Amino acid sequence: MSKEFKRTLITTALPYANGPVHIGHLAGVYVPADIYARYLRLNGREVAMIGGSDEHGVPITIKAKKEGVTPQDIVDRYHTIIRDSMKELGISFDVYSRTTSDIHSETASEFFRHLYDKGEFIEQSSMQLFDEKANQFLADRYVTGECPNCHAQGAYGDQCEKCGSSLNATDLINPRSAITGTVPVLRETRHWYLPLDRWEPALREWILDGHKEWKTNVYGQCKSWLDLGLQPRAVSRDLDWGVPVPVEGAEGKVLYVWFDAPIGYISNTKEIFPDTWEQWWKSPDTRIINFIGKDNIVFHCIVFPSMLMAYGDNYQLPDNVPANEFLNLEGDKISTSRNWAVWLHEYLRDFPGKQDVLRYVLTANAPETKDNDFTWRDFQTRNNSELVAILGNFVNRALVLTHKYFDGTVPAPGEMLDVDKALVEEIRKLKGEMSEAIETFHFREALRLAMDMARAGNKYLQETEPWKTAKTDMERTATALYMVIQTCANLAIAFEPFLPFMSEKLLRMLNGDKISWDMLGCFDLVPAGAHIGQPELLFEKIEDEAIDAQMQRLENIKKENQLKAWKPEPQKEDVDFDTFCRSDIRVGTVTECVKVPKADKLLKFTIDDGTPEPRTIVSGIAQHYPEPEKLVGRQVLFISNLPPRKLRGIESQGMILSAVNADGSLVLAAPSAFVNPGALVQ
Ligand code: 2FM
Ligand code: ZN
Repeated sequence: MSKEFKRTLITTALPYANGPVHIGHLAGVYVPADIYARYLRLNGREVAMIGGSDEHGVPITIKAKKEGVTPQDIVDRYHTIIRDSMKELGISFDVYSRTTSDIHSETASEFFRHLYDKGEFIEQSSMQLFDEKANQFLADRYVTGECPNCHAQGAYGDQCEKCGSSLNATDLINPRSAITGTVPVLRETRHWYLPLDRWEPALREWILDGHKEWKTNVYGQCKSWLDLGLQPRAVSRDLDWGVPVPVEGAEGKVLYVWFDAPIGYISNTKEIFPDTWEQWWKSPDTRIINFIGKDNIVFHCIVFPSMLMAYGDNYQLPDNVPANEFLNLEGDKISTSRNWAVWLHEYLRDFPGKQDVLRYVLTANAPETKDNDFTWRDFQTRNNSELVAILGNFVNRALVLTHKYFDGTVPAPGEMLDVDKALVEEIRKLKGEMSEAIETFHFREALRLAMDMARAGNKYLQETEPWKTAKTDMERTATALYMVIQTCANLAIAFEPFLPFMSEKLLRMLNGDKISWDMLGCFDLVPAGAHIGQPELLFEKIEDEAIDAQMQRLENIKKENQLKAWKPEPQKEDVDFDTFCRSDIRVGTVTECVKVPKADKLLKFTIDDGTPEPRTIVSGIAQHYPEPEKLVGRQVLFISNLPPRKLRGIESQGMILSAVNADGSLVLAAPSAFVNPGALVQ
């Protein structure tokens, strides 16, 4: 890292307070930002990590309307959940505030007013969608319709979630109001626009020439926006929830949420540094890093920087925007509205004390260069085979052996042999590689390297076998145990940015206190003669039951979503009554039911249809009735006058009727009370 910077301002995308945070938010933004902040602090750097809830915007007002409460009720509820759960996960914000604070509305108002007074906006009338029933304009998510790009249904007025394209509400095909479901009309309204095109040359120079080192996904997205040519962007909305536009004649208009939210970074900085906040934003020796997800790139690399340049007054642009891609869950896109997520506050409830396990898995599998998938099985494997079997096991062996052979007192080492020197070399080499990886935002690589330190410790124990040398050469045992205790202390440092709870516990066991990154690679961290505490397990195995319960929860959500999305099949073409009457539908009683060999889907029914001869019907419902013998005695409905046909060599004399459920499962149709076999259904 360049030394010319005195301090680092780390901003983290402000999550919308319309729901709790989930693993996608964590993997994309908060865990990597926290790793970076902790690493810099360990290096003695001056750091401020800024967070807060984004409490404006249409999704919040929609949720409030749905629940019949005020938007303030919604944001109060979720701000608290988000703030508390992130704290419990150890995300070390220096401030976690909110955009409904007074300091924020003052700051955002002043920012707008300054740009307005400088003539940085264009004021323009345009035709916008208006809901006549609700008597309001339909900004952003208040309108849904068909995406003009990919033609998906249900695209929002600001974005299509299917293809990811940014939209204007008026671009939607067949728009509908999300408030009343009515077809909106066009009505004229006046708004303020930031002419991004004015800043295009400066943005090109700053990003395309000046920041070739940015992640390729970020650089590439910026380049394609710039190559497409920038347009003026409206920075106000006709809404009653947000920071009022501080200009006369702007009643009923508020700042667009994407105008006020990034200013939240500034207001939150002011909140912790009321006297020195300007140093953090306007001094060239401050390095600003924006941690965000890929859907926020344009706002952080194009829109907010244009706002800052328009403001002037030395506002600094970010030095890097290490945006991540998306994390999926069990193969499906995470979605707040479909409840397809692992919610942080629920994880903390279901896995108490396992903050580091989640932090580990989300980092080991971070979507740094491409979308990745979180699965509960992978979560279990990484815990059991990596945290428990490699890291936890090494530390436990080191401490147990020291207690066994030296009563918990760190022994004085003897002569250093090649095997000992090799361990020191290895840890030092890994430290260098880790530093490089963290400073270039390759956190999953850095975590892998930290794990390699634990692997090196295990290998060393394997090679030196202090339990064997204890019988013949106590000096060797002493040296080996001295070395592994030092390695444990090194692990407490190396893992601190990633697994802070483990690190603290390990340090406590070693009776250590202050650590710094400089100390990493040193082998005199726990002096000979020091007493170490009793070994406690750092990680414990996660059993199948805990994972099965989570999988079941997701299975249930999938079913609920299928039910919600289910619509009856469109009605078939009309059929005349005589044709219908020609179908002979009857009641039968099942006398035997067996699987058809070598056919997964087929069951062979033997039916009492009221005639002396039993009737055979083959039906494709085996997957829905895995225990066919239990159907014996049940009554079913069947069509009796279909021509017989052969299925797997069996002649099927008719068709059994069943209904199709929302999840595709089939349920046999039956009379609601016992009926004589052979009775006609009419
Ligand atoms: O995408 C989001 O969740 C936004 N609430 C992020 C805002 S980031 C910043 F600008 F505040
Ligand atoms: Zn689309």
